[in-house]
Amino acid sequence: MLLHIPAVLDTTTLARCIDLIKQADWADGRVTAGSQAATVKNNRQLPEISPVAQALRAIVLEALSKNPAFFSAALPRRISPPLFNRYGDTANAFGNHVDNAIRTHPPSAQHVRTDLSFTLFLSHPTDYDGGELIIEDGMGGRAVKLPAGDLILYPSYSVHRVEPVTHGARLACFSWLESMVRDPQQRELLHELDQSIVALRGEHGETDTAVQLTSCYHNLMRMWVTV
Ligand code: NI
Repeated sequence: MLLHIPAVLDTTTLARCIDLIKQADWADGRVTAGSQAATVKNNRQLPEISPVAQALRAIVLEALSKNPAFFSAALPRRISPPLFNRYGDTANAFGNHVDNAIRTHPPSAQHVRTDLSFTLFLSHPTDYDGGELIIEDGMGGRAVKLPAGDLILYPSYSVHRVEPVTHGARLACFSWLESMVRDPQQRELLHELDQSIVALRGEHGETDTAVQLTSCYHNLMRMWVTV
């Protein structure tokens, strides 16, 4: 499942992020890539321990924690500390690869199984040419290029790439998460059920049916959440 979550960052927060990023010193993006990915990766990243990256990370994690659509779709148990990248000039693309199954955050030594990946776009689509995130789906790939502040959630097992940026610069935040529900079909079913209950409540208010379906939702969660 690919899920587009709009306006994860509002315009004020986005502007704060861009102000911070202007102070950043970029490094070679291959530092966080696995051996296969490193051969096709050519971009820049903020060093994980840089003060700018840490400030940006706190902003993004707070925004994600307040986003019910993100929670409903991802059911996150652990989010790998978000990273920030820049595609442009001569470091402008990332060829086909699959994300590593496990991310380890060096300061905490915490392991995160990567069930879902996300990209949070920080640049406006008109700021750069190219730079589409292509997620292979067996049909030639889905091209994703979203408004600044919007996020795409996609399965970490998918082959994906970032097309060359031929003009301007593409800034983004990206990371991976381990879900409380490992099975993608179970997770998607819970998400659909949750969204349907929200819609039902919106149309009819609190009803016995809505309560019953909410009970089903939580009982399915009890069956499927791994601890
Ligand atoms: Ni990737």
